[in-house]
Amino acid sequence: MILVLLGAPGAGKGTQAEALAAATGAAHVATGDLFRAEIAAGSALGTTAKEFIDAGRLVPDEVTIAMIAARLARPDAAERVILDGFPRTAAQVEALDRAYAASGRRIEALLLDVDRDVLVARLTGRRVCPSCGRSYHLTNRPPRVDGCCDACGATLITRSDDAAETVAARLEHQLGALQAVVALYRDSGRLGVVSGTGGIDEIRERLARAAAAVGLTPR
Ligand code: AP5
Repeated sequence: MILVLLGAPGAGKGTQAEALAAATGAAHVATGDLFRAEIAAGSALGTTAKEFIDAGRLVPDEVTIAMIAARLARPDAAERVILDGFPRTAAQVEALDRAYAASGRRIEALLLDVDRDVLVARLTGRRVCPSCGRSYHLTNRPPRVDGCCDACGATLITRSDDAAETVAARLEHQLGALQAVVALYRDSGRLGVVSGTGGIDEIRERLARAAAAVGLTPR
């Protein structure tokens, strides 16, 4: 099955998808991570994506859909997948449905629901590991040693799109698109809603229950 994890920027999709993937054996596929890898590699796709990401806007559908199609064709995505950050537009929802219509693979969505003021605090306090991609927060999820990744020891950085003005632009440009995608899954009877407010561990348990209810059970 394919579990689509929906949520606003900073809702906790990456944090929770990582834990849910570890518990269920699903592949965790995050469009933001794929774009950042392309940017780091200096590819043409990365150069295009960076322009939109730094402006807080969505990367055009044709670029995003082609990139995710290539990623989902890899063997680790053949069975269970958690999609983090895709789909984000009606065209992306349709492309995903079309890609799996023939195989009969189930697509279910869960929305991590978080208030806007909480999102801003989470995004501006986030620090990430440039080496292994792990995410931290200055107060909510600090590393054991200040400024260093717990997993690999690299020096933590601030994502370029977590600067206060870019966070404001991301919320302004992207919340409307999220609502449209949420409506599509709701109207097709494939949407569950999980409160994304509270501690990381309690949300993990809530999400695990909701995921199990739609068929993504622990392994
Ligand atoms: P992407 O990387 O997907 O960014 P995003 O959706 O804005 O999501 P974030 O990664 O910012 O947040 P998150 O929900 O994963 O939260 P996290 O767990 O890190 O995309 C980047 C850009 O790429 C987009 O802006 C767009 O330009 C482009 N893009 C991506 N996908 C696209 C698509 N499909 N189409 C077009 N363009 C696309 O948590 C955030 C912080 O909060 C962390 O510090 C964390 O430690 C902390 N935290 C998490 N949970 C809690 C909690 N419960 N309590 C306290 N703190 C918490």
